[in-house]
Amino acid sequence: MSDKEFQTNTSEWFYPTEDIIKNAHIPDYDTVYQQAIDDPIGFWGEQAESLEWYQKWDQVLDDSNAPFYKWFIGGKTNIVLNALDRHQKTWRRNKIAIIWEGEDGEKRSFSYWRLNQEVCKFANVLRSMGVRKGDTVTIYMGRTPEIVIAMLACAKVGAIHSVIYGGFSEQAIADRIEDAKSRVLITSDGAWLRGQIVPLKNNVDQAIDRSPIVEHVIVVKRTGQDVTMVQGRDYWYHDLMALPIASTRCETEVMDAEDPLFILYTSGTTGKPKGILHTHGGYQVYTSTTLNWVFDIKDDDRWWCAADPGWITGHSYIVYAPLILGATSIIYEGAPTYPYPDRWWRIVEDYGVTILYTAPTAIRGLMRFGDAWPNRRDLSSLRLLGSVGEPINPEAWKWFYNVIGKGRCPIMDTWWQTETGGFMITPVPSVGLKPGSATRPFPGIVVDVVDEDGNTCAPNEDGKLVIKTPWPSMLRTVWGDDQRYLNQYWAAYKDKGWYLAGDSARKDDDGYIWVIGRIDDVIKVSGYRLGTAEIESGLVSHHAVAEAAVIGVPDEVKGNIIYAYCILVAGQTGSDDLVKALREHIRHEVGPIAMPSKIEFVDKLPKTRSGKIMRRVLKARAMGLPEGDLSTLED
Ligand code: WTA
Repeated sequence: MSDKEFQTNTSEWFYPTEDIIKNAHIPDYDTVYQQAIDDPIGFWGEQAESLEWYQKWDQVLDDSNAPFYKWFIGGKTNIVLNALDRHQKTWRRNKIAIIWEGEDGEKRSFSYWRLNQEVCKFANVLRSMGVRKGDTVTIYMGRTPEIVIAMLACAKVGAIHSVIYGGFSEQAIADRIEDAKSRVLITSDGAWLRGQIVPLKNNVDQAIDRSPIVEHVIVVKRTGQDVTMVQGRDYWYHDLMALPIASTRCETEVMDAEDPLFILYTSGTTGKPKGILHTHGGYQVYTSTTLNWVFDIKDDDRWWCAADPGWITGHSYIVYAPLILGATSIIYEGAPTYPYPDRWWRIVEDYGVTILYTAPTAIRGLMRFGDAWPNRRDLSSLRLLGSVGEPINPEAWKWFYNVIGKGRCPIMDTWWQTETGGFMITPVPSVGLKPGSATRPFPGIVVDVVDEDGNTCAPNEDGKLVIKTPWPSMLRTVWGDDQRYLNQYWAAYKDKGWYLAGDSARKDDDGYIWVIGRIDDVIKVSGYRLGTAEIESGLVSHHAVAEAAVIGVPDEVKGNIIYAYCILVAGQTGSDDLVKALREHIRHEVGPIAMPSKIEFVDKLPKTRSGKIMRRVLKARAMGLPEGDLSTLED
C-alpha cells in the first residue's frame, strides 16, 4: 500500500444500485447534509426526539464555555432507558438482541427481555456492593455477553465504566485503574483466543498488586482453569447472580444528559493514556443516528460489528447504538482464522449476517488465505459492508467488495475516533464510493483539511484534518485533566475554535476526503491505537534499558508494526536473548498487542537540541528513505 496508489485511484467510482438508493434511510445525502448545516440545532433536536427522555431538554447546545460544550441541557435520561427499558414495552422484547458464539463453538443468544433481566440482576449486585451514581467501575474481559451486561449494568445504576481491552496487561491495567480510581473491577477467569487461554484474572491480580485501590473483583467463569480467588476481595459472578439480591427488578437511575457514561483510555502523544469521557445524552443521540443512517439498520437485519467491545468501535456499535435501534447483533469471541480461515465466513452463513463491519487489517489478513475459503460459504445474505480503524488500501477494498460482497454490497469506510464517539466522515449507502476514501462528512459534521495557519488546502494537497463545529457525541474532556483536553485538541486552532483530529488528510476535486494517517506519536497496529510513549516507558522499566524510542513501520497486513531502538545501561550487551526478554517484558507490562516486531540496540538516538527524539529520522532509516531536513538534529 503506497501513497501513490491512493492518489492514482481517486477517479475510480463504485455506485450503489437503484434498489439500494431507494431503500436507504438517506436516499439523498446532499439534501440532508445541507439541512443539517443550515440548522444544526433543529437537526440534532429532531434526532434526539426519536429517543426517550425522562424529561425533555431545555436547550440543544450550550456553547457558552467552549470548547467545554454541553448538549441537551436540562434533559433527563439514561442510555439504558433507550437501549433496554423502552423495548420491554413493545414487541421488541421478544426480538433477539445478541447472538453470541464462543471460539470453542459454544452458542448463546439473548432476547431484549432476557438481556434486560440479566442487566437488572447485575445492576442490583453492583448496587449491593455499594456502587453508586458517579462511581467508576473497571471492566477487563473478553468478548462474551457478560461484558455487554456489565457495561449496561454500570450505566443503569449511573456508574461510569472504564473498559480495558483484553490485549493490555499488568502495568497498563494498573495505570488505568489508578487514573479512574475504580474500587470495583469486573473480569473473567480467561478468554479464548486462537485456541489458547488469555489469562485475564491473572493479569488483574498482578495489576492490583501495583494498584491496590481495588476492593472488589467480580469474576465471570469462562475458560474454567484454576484461578486464585482472594477471600473477601474476589467473587464469582455466577454466585452473586444467584443471590436473592440479584432480582430482575431494578430501577434505572435518572441521569442528566451531561452525566458521564464512560471513560475509555486511549493513547496520545505523550505520557499516560488519556481517559476520554463520554456522556449519556449526546452520545446516545449521535451513535444511534449514525448507525441507523450509515448502516441502514432495518428490523430484519443481522448486524455484525466484528470489533472488540474494549475499543470505542465496540462501545458505540456493538453495545449501545445497535441496542438503542433494537437491532440483532452477532458477537463472536475469538480469532477470525480459528480453527480455519473460514470461521468468519461460516458465521456469516450460519446466522445470515446482513451487514459486516470490520477493519482493514482483518480484511488483509483473511485475503492472504485466498478466495477459496469465502467462496465455499454462502455469503448471499450480506447487503452492506464496513471498514474502520485505518485507511483501507484499494486492493483490500476491492477484495472485500468483490470476493466477500460479490460486487453487490457498498462498503461504508467510516473515519472516526475514540474522541468523536461515532462516525464522522463516512458514506451512506446511497452515495458513490472511491476505494480508500471515507468520502464525505456525516450530516451535521463540518470537516476540513487545513494548513498550519488554518487556510483550507488546495484539492489533493496534504493538510491537517479539523472539525469545525461541535457535535453531540464529542468527548467532553480528558478524565481529570481539562488542561490536557484543551492542549491536545483545541490549542492548535484556538482562535478559530476547531478540533484537531491528529490525522493528516487530503480532499480531492470532488470534495472526497482521503485520510492518510496520524501526525502524532500514535501508531495504529492492526487497527489498535498505541502510544509510542507507553511502549517506550515499558522498555525503560526493564533493568537493562537506559533509553528507548519506538516507531511504526508500514506492514502489509497489520498496517504498521512496531520497531524499537534501545540504548542499554552501561555493562549490558545486546543479544538475541535480551531481545526475547524485552519482548516478553512488554507483553507483561503493556500487553501482547504492544510487542515490538524488531528490537535494535543502538548507542545513540537522533534527537533535537531540546532533547526530543526525532522518530521521523528513525522511521526514514528503517524504511531506507531519505532522512529529510536534519537541521534540528543535535549533532
Ligand atoms: C484512524 C477508531 C482512515 C485515524 C474508531 C484516527 C482511520 C484513529 C479510519 C482513531 C478510517 C479510524 N480511515 N483512518 N476509516 N478510522 N482511523 O481512537 O488515524 O482507535 O485518528 O478510533 O484511527 O483511532 P481510535
